[in-house]
Amino acid sequence: MDFKTIVYTKDSGIATVQLNRPEVLNAINEDVLLDLSQAMDDMVKDDTVRVLIVKGNTEAFAAGADIKSFVSYSPQDAHQYISQVQMGMNKLMALNKPSIASISGYALGGGCELALACDIRIAADNAVFGLPEINLGIIPGGSGTLRLTRLVGEGKAKELIFLGEIFDAKKALELGVINRLVPLEDLEAETLKLARKLTRKPPIALHSAKELIHLSYDVDIHTGLMMEKEKFAYLFSTEDQQEGMLAFLEGRKASFQGK
Ligand code: COA
Repeated sequence: MDFKTIVYTKDSGIATVQLNRPEVLNAINEDVLLDLSQAMDDMVKDDTVRVLIVKGNTEAFAAGADIKSFVSYSPQDAHQYISQVQMGMNKLMALNKPSIASISGYALGGGCELALACDIRIAADNAVFGLPEINLGIIPGGSGTLRLTRLVGEGKAKELIFLGEIFDAKKALELGVINRLVPLEDLEAETLKLARKLTRKPPIALHSAKELIHLSYDVDIHTGLMMEKEKFAYLFSTEDQQEGMLAFLEGRKASFQGK
């Protein structure tokens, strides 16, 4: 696979997508979306991949959509672009394995939304967040109005999106925008530690839990509970369930195969 804007690697069950446009602080353009989508197509099919890490570089996770290409957009261009962004975010959210955003530096606009579309966010103490689109006369369009609201609640989401102010990693942790905050020098090791833990979990059960958590926003509690019951019962048809329970009874660590 040939990528223009990302570096895509796979190692010991961990796929990593590193955004690679350092000259523009990893601003997200159509090439980034295409590359990301192709990398996801690959990892969806690859059972050896158990977890995805999305990261940038020290200075920037991603500083948002590429404003330079925005300037000449017609409403039709904007519609086409943002449809592609939303498809990419949806694909990431629906990925059949857990994803971790490993964030250092700027995570602004579309970059912040990319992190929000991951399942877990771990950030370095130099990370800064924000949805500053309002200052450009627009709004977040890559699911930020929904995902941020779900994470922090309506009142705080309105304040953050209306004012478009940038906030640091400590505030992001307080708000619940990120799960963990670590010193910059520990970010890589802590991200890998978390990823390795996830590679040792049963993939089908993980995917089921992820789907149900997402579903919980869209269905009433009775439908959600019914779906949970069905998934719960279904997992008893997997080898991983047998292995997990046998390992417990035998006092050893389970080795899950994703079957
Ligand atoms: N789109 C396109 N280019 C971007 C960009 C973006 N979102 N963010 C940064 N860049 C480019 C800059 O234009 C600059 O390029 P140049 O060297 O050719 O001029 C380069 O990245 C470095 O950015 P610069 O602004 O010089 O760095 P800084 O450290 O002074 O400021 C930011 C960093 C992130 C605060 C500032 O770049 C910024 O506000 N970016 C836009 C953030 C934003 O509004 N995102 C939402 C978009 S919808």
